[in-house]
Amino acid sequence: MKVIIRNDEKKASIWAAHYIADAINAKAKTSKKPFVLGLATGSTPIETYAELARLVKAGKLSFKNVVTFNMDEYVALPVEHPESYHSFMDKYLFNHIDIDRKNVHLLDGNAKDLKKECDDYEKKIVAAGGIDLFLGGIGEDGHIAFNEPFSSLNSRTRVVTLTEDTRKVNSRFFDNDINKVPAQAMSVGVATVTDAKEVLILAFGSKKARALRDAIEGPCSHACTVSALQLHPAGIIVCDEAAIGECKYNSYKYFKAVEEAESK
Ligand code: PGA
Repeated sequence: MKVIIRNDEKKASIWAAHYIADAINAKAKTSKKPFVLGLATGSTPIETYAELARLVKAGKLSFKNVVTFNMDEYVALPVEHPESYHSFMDKYLFNHIDIDRKNVHLLDGNAKDLKKECDDYEKKIVAAGGIDLFLGGIGEDGHIAFNEPFSSLNSRTRVVTLTEDTRKVNSRFFDNDINKVPAQAMSVGVATVTDAKEVLILAFGSKKARALRDAIEGPCSHACTVSALQLHPAGIIVCDEAAIGECKYNSYKYFKAVEEAESK
Protein backbone atom coordinates (compact mmCIF):
# COMPACT_ATOMS: atom_id res chain seq x y z
CA MET A 1 0.00 0.00 0.00
CA LYS A 2 1.21 3.48 -0.83
CA VAL A 3 0.22 6.47 1.25
CA ILE A 4 0.53 9.93 -0.27
CA ILE A 5 0.33 12.71 2.30
CA ARG A 6 -0.25 16.36 1.47
CA ASN A 7 -0.60 19.38 3.76
CA ASP A 8 -4.25 19.90 3.01
CA GLU A 9 -7.27 18.53 1.18
CA LYS A 10 -6.83 20.78 -1.83
CA LYS A 11 -3.26 19.68 -2.55
CA ALA A 12 -4.15 16.03 -1.97
CA SER A 13 -7.17 16.29 -4.29
CA ILE A 14 -5.08 17.86 -7.03
CA TRP A 15 -2.55 15.03 -6.69
CA ALA A 16 -5.37 12.45 -6.96
CA ALA A 17 -6.99 14.12 -9.98
CA HIS A 18 -3.67 14.26 -11.84
CA TYR A 19 -2.99 10.63 -10.98
CA ILE A 20 -6.38 9.64 -12.45
CA ALA A 21 -5.86 11.84 -15.51
CA ASP A 22 -2.42 10.32 -16.12
CA ALA A 23 -3.90 6.80 -15.87
CA ILE A 24 -6.66 7.65 -18.38
CA ASN A 25 -4.19 9.29 -20.77
CA ALA A 26 -1.70 6.42 -20.45
CA LYS A 27 -4.31 3.81 -21.40
CA ALA A 28 -5.51 5.92 -24.33
CA LYS A 29 -1.96 5.87 -25.74
CA THR A 30 -1.73 2.07 -25.81
CA SER A 31 -5.29 0.80 -26.20
CA LYS A 32 -8.55 1.58 -27.94
CA LYS A 33 -10.48 0.03 -25.07
CA PRO A 34 -12.25 2.45 -22.75
CA PHE A 35 -10.79 3.33 -19.38
CA VAL A 36 -13.15 1.95 -16.73
CA LEU A 37 -13.32 4.24 -13.72
CA GLY A 38 -15.06 3.52 -10.42
CA LEU A 39 -16.40 6.64 -8.72
CA ALA A 40 -17.56 7.73 -5.28
CA THR A 41 -19.80 10.42 -3.83
CA GLY A 42 -19.67 12.33 -0.53
CA SER A 43 -17.79 15.47 0.45
CA THR A 44 -14.39 13.86 -0.03
CA PRO A 45 -14.06 13.62 -3.85
CA ILE A 46 -15.56 17.05 -4.65
CA GLU A 47 -12.20 18.85 -5.06
CA THR A 48 -10.83 15.95 -7.09
CA TYR A 49 -13.82 16.17 -9.44
CA ALA A 50 -13.36 19.94 -9.74
CA GLU A 51 -9.74 19.43 -10.77
CA LEU A 52 -10.69 16.70 -13.28
CA ALA A 53 -13.23 19.11 -14.80
CA ARG A 54 -10.54 21.80 -14.97
CA LEU A 55 -8.22 19.40 -16.80
CA VAL A 56 -10.98 18.63 -19.32
CA LYS A 57 -11.63 22.34 -19.90
CA ALA A 58 -7.91 22.92 -20.35
CA GLY A 59 -7.83 20.23 -23.07
CA LYS A 60 -5.51 18.00 -21.03
CA LEU A 61 -8.02 15.21 -20.42
CA SER A 62 -11.05 13.71 -22.12
CA PHE A 63 -13.71 11.36 -20.79
CA LYS A 64 -14.93 10.46 -24.29
CA ASN A 65 -13.50 6.96 -23.97
CA VAL A 66 -14.13 6.54 -20.24
CA VAL A 67 -16.80 4.26 -18.76
CA THR A 68 -17.82 4.92 -15.16
CA PHE A 69 -19.40 2.85 -12.41
CA ASN A 70 -20.47 4.53 -9.20
CA MET A 71 -20.12 2.79 -5.88
CA ASP A 72 -23.53 3.16 -4.40
CA GLU A 73 -26.97 4.74 -4.31
CA TYR A 74 -29.72 5.05 -1.71
CA VAL A 75 -32.69 2.73 -1.98
CA ALA A 76 -36.05 4.33 -2.80
CA LEU A 77 -34.76 7.91 -2.97
CA PRO A 78 -36.08 9.51 -6.18
CA VAL A 79 -33.32 9.97 -8.77
CA GLU A 80 -34.15 13.68 -9.02
CA HIS A 81 -33.81 14.17 -5.24
CA PRO A 82 -30.92 16.63 -4.73
CA GLU A 83 -29.19 14.17 -2.41
CA SER A 84 -29.45 11.14 -4.69
CA TYR A 85 -26.05 10.06 -5.91
CA HIS A 86 -27.34 10.47 -9.47
CA SER A 87 -27.88 14.18 -8.74
CA PHE A 88 -24.56 14.45 -6.93
CA MET A 89 -22.59 13.06 -9.85
CA ASP A 90 -24.27 15.36 -12.35
CA LYS A 91 -23.67 18.38 -10.15
CA TYR A 92 -20.03 17.74 -9.30
CA LEU A 93 -18.68 15.88 -12.31
CA PHE A 94 -20.77 14.72 -15.26
CA ASN A 95 -22.22 18.15 -16.12
CA HIS A 96 -18.69 19.53 -16.40
CA ILE A 97 -16.91 16.93 -18.50
CA ASP A 98 -17.20 15.48 -22.01
CA ILE A 99 -18.44 12.03 -20.97
CA ASP A 100 -20.89 10.13 -23.16
CA ARG A 101 -23.92 9.54 -20.91
CA LYS A 102 -24.33 6.02 -22.19
CA ASN A 103 -20.99 5.22 -20.55
CA VAL A 104 -22.21 6.30 -17.11
CA HIS A 105 -23.44 3.61 -14.72
CA LEU A 106 -25.15 4.13 -11.38
CA LEU A 107 -27.22 1.64 -9.44
CA ASP A 108 -30.96 2.21 -9.69
CA GLY A 109 -32.23 2.44 -6.13
CA ASN A 110 -35.78 2.40 -7.43
CA ALA A 111 -35.48 -0.75 -9.52
CA LYS A 112 -38.39 -3.18 -9.17
CA ASP A 113 -36.05 -6.07 -8.49
CA LEU A 114 -33.17 -4.71 -6.42
CA LYS A 115 -31.29 -7.99 -6.25
CA LYS A 116 -31.38 -8.35 -10.04
CA GLU A 117 -30.21 -4.76 -10.38
CA CYS A 118 -27.22 -5.55 -8.13
CA ASP A 119 -26.38 -8.83 -9.88
CA ASP A 120 -26.63 -7.13 -13.28
CA TYR A 121 -24.30 -4.36 -12.10
CA GLU A 122 -21.56 -6.90 -11.39
CA LYS A 123 -22.10 -8.39 -14.85
CA LYS A 124 -21.90 -4.96 -16.49
CA ILE A 125 -18.55 -4.31 -14.78
CA VAL A 126 -17.19 -7.60 -16.07
CA ALA A 127 -18.58 -6.90 -19.57
CA ALA A 128 -16.82 -3.52 -19.56
CA GLY A 129 -13.52 -5.31 -18.97
CA GLY A 130 -13.27 -4.78 -15.20
CA ILE A 131 -12.50 -1.57 -13.39
CA ASP A 132 -9.12 -0.01 -14.12
CA LEU A 133 -9.15 2.35 -11.18
CA PHE A 134 -11.65 2.63 -8.35
CA LEU A 135 -11.74 5.98 -6.56
CA GLY A 136 -13.24 5.87 -3.07
CA GLY A 137 -13.52 7.65 0.23
CA ILE A 138 -13.77 6.17 3.68
CA GLY A 139 -16.43 6.45 6.32
CA GLU A 140 -15.69 7.48 9.88
CA ASP A 141 -16.38 3.83 10.77
CA GLY A 142 -13.88 2.62 8.15
CA HIS A 143 -16.45 1.71 5.54
CA ILE A 144 -15.56 1.60 1.86
CA ALA A 145 -18.53 2.31 -0.41
CA PHE A 146 -21.45 1.42 1.90
CA ASN A 147 -19.75 -1.71 3.21
CA GLU A 148 -20.36 -1.09 6.87
CA PRO A 149 -18.31 -2.83 9.58
CA PHE A 150 -18.74 -6.62 9.46
CA SER A 151 -19.55 -6.67 5.74
CA SER A 152 -17.76 -9.63 4.22
CA LEU A 153 -14.46 -8.70 2.63
CA ASN A 154 -15.65 -10.94 -0.21
CA SER A 155 -18.94 -9.08 -0.61
CA ARG A 156 -20.42 -8.15 -3.99
CA THR A 157 -22.97 -5.58 -5.08
CA ARG A 158 -26.08 -5.90 -2.93
CA VAL A 159 -28.65 -4.09 -0.81
CA VAL A 160 -27.17 -2.99 2.51
CA THR A 161 -28.58 -1.61 5.74
CA LEU A 162 -26.83 1.55 6.87
CA THR A 163 -25.58 1.84 10.43
CA GLU A 164 -27.09 4.48 12.66
CA ASP A 165 -23.66 6.16 12.73
CA THR A 166 -23.55 6.47 8.95
CA ARG A 167 -27.10 7.80 8.84
CA LYS A 168 -26.20 10.34 11.53
CA VAL A 169 -23.10 11.45 9.62
CA ASN A 170 -25.09 11.73 6.36
CA SER A 171 -28.01 13.55 8.00
CA ARG A 172 -26.02 16.76 7.33
CA PHE A 173 -27.29 16.41 3.75
CA PHE A 174 -30.89 15.80 4.88
CA ASP A 175 -31.73 18.86 7.04
CA ASN A 176 -29.84 17.24 9.94
CA ASP A 177 -32.77 14.85 10.32
CA ILE A 178 -31.63 11.23 10.57
CA ASN A 179 -35.18 10.08 9.79
CA LYS A 180 -34.88 11.59 6.32
CA VAL A 181 -31.74 9.54 5.55
CA PRO A 182 -32.69 6.33 3.75
CA ALA A 183 -32.10 3.27 5.92
CA GLN A 184 -30.92 1.17 3.01
CA ALA A 185 -28.64 1.57 0.07
CA MET A 186 -27.24 -0.49 -2.77
CA SER A 187 -23.50 -0.79 -2.75
CA VAL A 188 -20.74 -2.48 -4.65
CA GLY A 189 -19.07 -5.05 -2.41
CA VAL A 190 -15.62 -4.90 -0.90
CA ALA A 191 -14.51 -7.49 -3.45
CA THR A 192 -16.02 -5.44 -6.28
CA VAL A 193 -13.71 -2.62 -5.23
CA THR A 194 -10.62 -4.73 -4.64
CA ASP A 195 -11.09 -6.49 -8.01
CA ALA A 196 -10.14 -3.19 -9.65
CA LYS A 197 -6.63 -3.04 -11.07
CA GLU A 198 -5.93 0.00 -8.91
CA VAL A 199 -7.77 1.41 -5.90
CA LEU A 200 -7.28 5.01 -4.84
CA ILE A 201 -8.77 6.00 -1.50
CA LEU A 202 -9.10 9.61 -0.36
CA ALA A 203 -9.28 10.57 3.32
CA PHE A 204 -9.36 14.12 4.65
CA GLY A 205 -9.70 15.70 8.07
CA SER A 206 -9.23 14.55 11.64
CA LYS A 207 -12.66 12.90 11.66
CA LYS A 208 -11.20 10.22 9.38
CA ALA A 209 -8.00 9.76 11.40
CA ARG A 210 -9.14 6.80 13.50
CA ALA A 211 -10.53 4.93 10.48
CA LEU A 212 -7.36 5.63 8.53
CA ARG A 213 -5.17 4.36 11.37
CA ASP A 214 -7.25 1.15 11.51
CA ALA A 215 -7.04 0.78 7.73
CA ILE A 216 -3.27 1.23 7.59
CA GLU A 217 -1.94 -0.07 10.89
CA GLY A 218 -4.72 -2.34 12.09
CA PRO A 219 -5.38 -5.90 11.00
CA CYS A 220 -7.08 -6.61 7.70
CA SER A 221 -10.54 -7.06 9.17
CA HIS A 222 -14.21 -6.86 8.38
CA ALA A 223 -14.46 -4.48 11.37
CA CYS A 224 -12.87 -1.84 9.11
CA THR A 225 -13.75 -2.81 5.58
CA VAL A 226 -11.35 -0.37 3.91
CA SER A 227 -8.53 -2.40 5.54
CA ALA A 228 -9.10 -4.89 2.67
CA LEU A 229 -6.84 -2.52 0.74
CA GLN A 230 -3.92 -4.14 2.60
CA LEU A 231 -4.34 -7.20 0.36
CA HIS A 232 -4.48 -5.21 -2.86
CA PRO A 233 -1.32 -5.11 -4.96
CA ALA A 234 -1.97 -1.55 -6.14
CA GLY A 235 -3.71 0.31 -3.34
CA ILE A 236 -3.06 4.00 -2.77
CA ILE A 237 -4.33 6.18 0.03
CA VAL A 238 -4.20 9.92 -0.59
CA CYS A 239 -4.74 11.94 2.56
CA ASP A 240 -4.05 15.19 4.31
CA GLU A 241 -1.97 15.72 7.46
CA ALA A 242 -5.06 15.74 9.66
CA ALA A 243 -6.30 12.35 8.44
CA ILE A 244 -2.92 10.65 8.97
CA GLY A 245 -2.71 12.17 12.45
CA GLU A 246 -3.55 9.00 14.42
CA CYS A 247 -0.92 6.86 12.67
CA LYS A 248 2.46 6.29 14.31
CA TYR A 249 5.11 8.88 13.54
CA ASN A 250 7.33 6.12 12.16
CA SER A 251 4.61 5.08 9.69
CA TYR A 252 4.24 8.69 8.61
CA LYS A 253 8.01 9.06 8.12
CA TYR A 254 8.15 5.81 6.14
CA PHE A 255 5.39 6.83 3.71
CA LYS A 256 7.07 10.20 3.17
CA ALA A 257 10.44 8.50 2.57
CA VAL A 258 8.92 6.08 0.04
CA GLU A 259 7.36 8.92 -1.90
CA GLU A 260 10.60 10.87 -1.90
CA ALA A 261 12.64 7.87 -3.04
CA GLU A 262 10.21 7.03 -5.84
CA SER A 263 10.03 10.59 -7.13
CA LYS A 264 13.80 10.72 -7.74
P1 PGA B 1 -17.67 11.73 2.98
O1 PGA B 1 -18.15 10.22 3.01
O2 PGA B 1 -16.82 11.85 1.77
O3 PGA B 1 -18.92 12.56 2.87
O4 PGA B 1 -16.91 11.97 4.24
C1 PGA B 1 -17.24 9.21 2.77
C2 PGA B 1 -17.89 7.87 2.96
O5 PGA B 1 -18.86 7.77 3.73
O6 PGA B 1 -17.41 6.89 2.37
